[in-house]
Amino acid sequence: MLDVFNVNALGALRVTEAFVPLVMNSASKMIANISSEAGSIGQNKRSSWFAYCMSKAALNMGSSLVHNGLKEAGGHVLLIHPGWVQTFMRGELDVAAELTPTESAGKIIGLIRERIGQSPGDVPAFIDVYGNSMPW
Ligand SMILES: NC(=O)c1ccc[n+]([C@@H]2O[C@H](COP(=O)([O-])OP(=O)(O)OC[C@H]3O[C@@H](n4cnc5c(N)ncnc54)[C@H](OP(=O)(O)O)[C@@H]3O)[C@@H](O)[C@H]2O)c1
Repeated sequence: MLDVFNVNALGALRVTEAFVPLVMNSASKMIANISSEAGSIGQNKRSSWFAYCMSKAALNMGSSLVHNGLKEAGGHVLLIHPGWVQTFMRGELDVAAELTPTESAGKIIGLIRERIGQSPGDVPAFIDVYGNSMPW
């Protein structure tokens, strides 16, 4: 569990810390983190997957803290659930998943581009790959 937390929650925070001076000097001032529906407490139906779900909920909170620290200077954080994607994340290729990595990545890039130039919201946007708001 600590390994998963270290990668999913702390890894994103380490990358943020390293890049935030460059991001805040950029036109977009945006950080986009790949979260998951599994990190949503509000819509949780699972009773297992403790490491993954807890690590993504921690990523969401870390992103909220970073967003609050940057928003007055025009910086913002976007949290995206990439959909159910055909990858090896669960150990073997998830052929039943609804999106290919190319499809998911294309939609994610579109969502990021749409938001460039927008003012930061009071809270970070937590959206799915179709642009729908996700419950925290
Ligand atoms: N697939 C889904 O249905 C789904 C759903 C919701 C959210 N997500 C999220 O989408 C993101 C991408 O997942 P994916 O499905 O594309 O999984 P994936 O194919 O298993 O890719 C995971 C990526 O993370 C990298 N990685 C793993 N451990 C790392 C470490 N210790 N340090 C640095 N990089 C590390 C891997 O690098 P290497 O290639 O070098 O091993 C790989 O590029 C993840 O954040 C996942 O939680 C996926």
